[in-house]
Amino acid sequence: MDKARRRRLILAAGASATGAGLAGGFWWWRRGRFGEPLTPPEPPLPPDPAFPNALRLPGRDGLYGVLEGQAAITIVARPVRYPLFGDKSANLLAYEVDHRGGTYLNPVFRARTGSAFNAKFWNTLEDPGIIHWHGFKVDSNNDGHPHYAVAGGKTYEYQFVIPNRAGTYWYHPHPHGLSGQQIYRGMAGLFIVEDEEELALQRALDLRLGATDIPLIVQDKRLDADGNPVFAPTGTERFQGYLGDQVLVNLTPRPHLDVASRVYRFRLLNGSNARIYRLAFRHAERLIDFTVIGTDGGLLDRPRTVKEAYLSPAERLDILLDLRYAARGEAVTLVSLPFDSMPLHKPAGQAPQRADAPLSEPDALSADGAEIELMRIRVRDRVTYGRTVPLELSKLEPLQHAGSRPRPITLDQRKGTWRINGLTYVGHQTPIVVKRGAIETWEIRNLPPTMPHPFHIHGFLFQVLSRSGSPEQVRRIADAATGLTVADLGWKDTVLVWPGETVRIVTDFSHPYLGDQVYMVHCHNMEHEDGGMMLNLKVAT
Ligand code: C2O
Ligand code: CU
Ligand code: CU
Repeated sequence: MDKARRRRLILAAGASATGAGLAGGFWWWRRGRFGEPLTPPEPPLPPDPAFPNALRLPGRDGLYGVLEGQAAITIVARPVRYPLFGDKSANLLAYEVDHRGGTYLNPVFRARTGSAFNAKFWNTLEDPGIIHWHGFKVDSNNDGHPHYAVAGGKTYEYQFVIPNRAGTYWYHPHPHGLSGQQIYRGMAGLFIVEDEEELALQRALDLRLGATDIPLIVQDKRLDADGNPVFAPTGTERFQGYLGDQVLVNLTPRPHLDVASRVYRFRLLNGSNARIYRLAFRHAERLIDFTVIGTDGGLLDRPRTVKEAYLSPAERLDILLDLRYAARGEAVTLVSLPFDSMPLHKPAGQAPQRADAPLSEPDALSADGAEIELMRIRVRDRVTYGRTVPLELSKLEPLQHAGSRPRPITLDQRKGTWRINGLTYVGHQTPIVVKRGAIETWEIRNLPPTMPHPFHIHGFLFQVLSRSGSPEQVRRIADAATGLTVADLGWKDTVLVWPGETVRIVTDFSHPYLGDQVYMVHCHNMEHEDGGMMLNLKVAT
């Protein structure tokens, strides 16, 4: 018997020792890599009418099937029919991969740092398409910049060595003006990168993808009666961002997850077009602690225990939830707490001025900042879990930024068009040029009247140095000295900049590729991005 197997049997024995009771007295279970219980499952819990649907999990194939990143594959962008609700088939757009007899939809790619990734993208949609590997430090040929979008019927070859440290990255469409629509209609998936440090953590906490290490892709959508996503933004919604009236997790409406009394890892991705979440876990009427272990670009230096965190579009949060002390049947709800989404903020104390674009009248269902229950987690199996979270997760060296003046970046709007540094996207222009190898500090200011903007850089990860001028709801949970919240820590590729804020970030623009590289910076509110709140970024040799 191998060691790991013996350990699991010990865990299982522990479960029976707690007196949880094993139906029948004879049982067996096998080690499944995905989605299978750690112990013989106890009888099902009664259905919860508020959360009737089992959360969709990464498995062997199908939706979010896990694909080990070594094989050469073809990723087909195509319309699919998928039963989002019951047996009604919805029309979605998805990435489909056929591999070794399995069909994967929006596969979860999983690969080691430094391994080769070869994939052919085949766009069978009528519209142009291209895949962007969000967070990957690849060369511009492999970045999925809208320049490289291919017409319907055409293909594009990706070939790169995965340069990133372990982390939860993702991929999504990036054809100019259409990214928001394609993501909204279903195209988005995860790319999980692993390295030695990450594998050690998985061993230490006994984490298995799809079973106790669970990705949660949070996306709000408007669905019609058959579950078809309806993407039809009005002028106002193109300006503010398109919100859904319900929130799906892993494309599951009103999901529940039945768990064991142990520590779970959740890798949260905000895959929404525009909605920001203020995440928390509620037990009875109280908020319970959770532990943040990583952000966009992987593990933090050490775990941080908090009660809430904002997550804006494209950001990731890697967390642990400790359910060791929960009794069978106890439930915890993942919620988004209410907050002021500052839809078109004017500085306090100033007479309200006419906005350049009209404000919508947000109704209770579609308002950003509304309180939402996202998912219910219910403890079904009592087990013994003797692992402890390591005090140190990783070594993070702060980037040494030179004494030079920071580069100013402004976010604002004029006549209903969002801009970066007073500009909007023009394909052949590269308004931001940095020198390869430079370590630059950027000072990003979000100028009122404005709204929150998740600011994203392609091709590099950065560190957030400070946040100032923050609204009260952010200051309240921020570190007094730096102004940073937990979602700002570690390596980031997207940072939320609230109205009136100044956020300083530092980026090391070193890369190993030959010649000039053209990436981009943009707001990850997809309607803002598609509307041109996006600039080319050239890294010049
Ligand atoms: Cu998810 Cu251009 O980004
Ligand atoms: Cu990106
Ligand atoms: Cu924006």
